[in-house]
Amino acid sequence: MRPSATPQDTGWIEVITGCMFSGKTEELIRRIRRAQYAHQSVVVFKPTIDRRYSTDSLGSHSGHRLRSFLVDRAAEIPSKVGDAQVVGIDEAQFFDAGLVGVASDLADAGRRVVVAGLDLDSQGRPFGPMPDLLATAEYIDKMLAICVVCGNPADRTQRIVDRDAQILVGEADAYEARCRRCWRPHAFAPAQERLPFGRNLADP
Ligand code: TMP
Ligand code: MG
Ligand code: ZN
Repeated sequence: MRPSATPQDTGWIEVITGCMFSGKTEELIRRIRRAQYAHQSVVVFKPTIDRRYSTDSLGSHSGHRLRSFLVDRAAEIPSKVGDAQVVGIDEAQFFDAGLVGVASDLADAGRRVVVAGLDLDSQGRPFGPMPDLLATAEYIDKMLAICVVCGNPADRTQRIVDRDAQILVGEADAYEARCRRCWRPHAFAPAQERLPFGRNLADP
């Protein structure tokens, strides 16, 4: 959702959400780069838990990168923001509940806060602080991927390895994007093993 007027003299929160492989991090990087081109000061954070790609930069599945700070807890963010006008936060689903207040305080103080994160885990449960961030944001974009089984728009993440923990850092080795019809929260086989002839899922 785009603002209908350009916000002035105020901060706000933008949330970019959706399933894995939907381009959330790419979109976050795109927005931060636009701000940099306009000579706005930016700072980007991600949780320590996600060390994919590198420790000091954001990476997307497509290989785009952006320098970022690793933090263990949301409470570490305010002291590291400095005078940045734009604050990016990736993998917000891994942060503690304190992220909601931190984002809100930054917006109250006039910063543009751009948050990206998974709305749902692989079992379809709202993930970490994301529901509250979505409820308190001014602007929300829900990105879609493409279902690996049927090619329809995908808004769910299928785990394809037999691991129960909510947090399991991984990429295409452990997850696929699936649509509502093809997503099986309690099955683990990848699409190509179970569906050699395309979409015809017999299992529950
Ligand atoms: P991405 O949204 O930037 O692709 O990254 C999502 C990260 O979240 C990735 O490391 C896998 C992880 N993850 C979980 O830990 N649990 C889950 O249920 C899902 C769907 C993803
Ligand atoms: Mg990402
Ligand atoms: Zn599908």
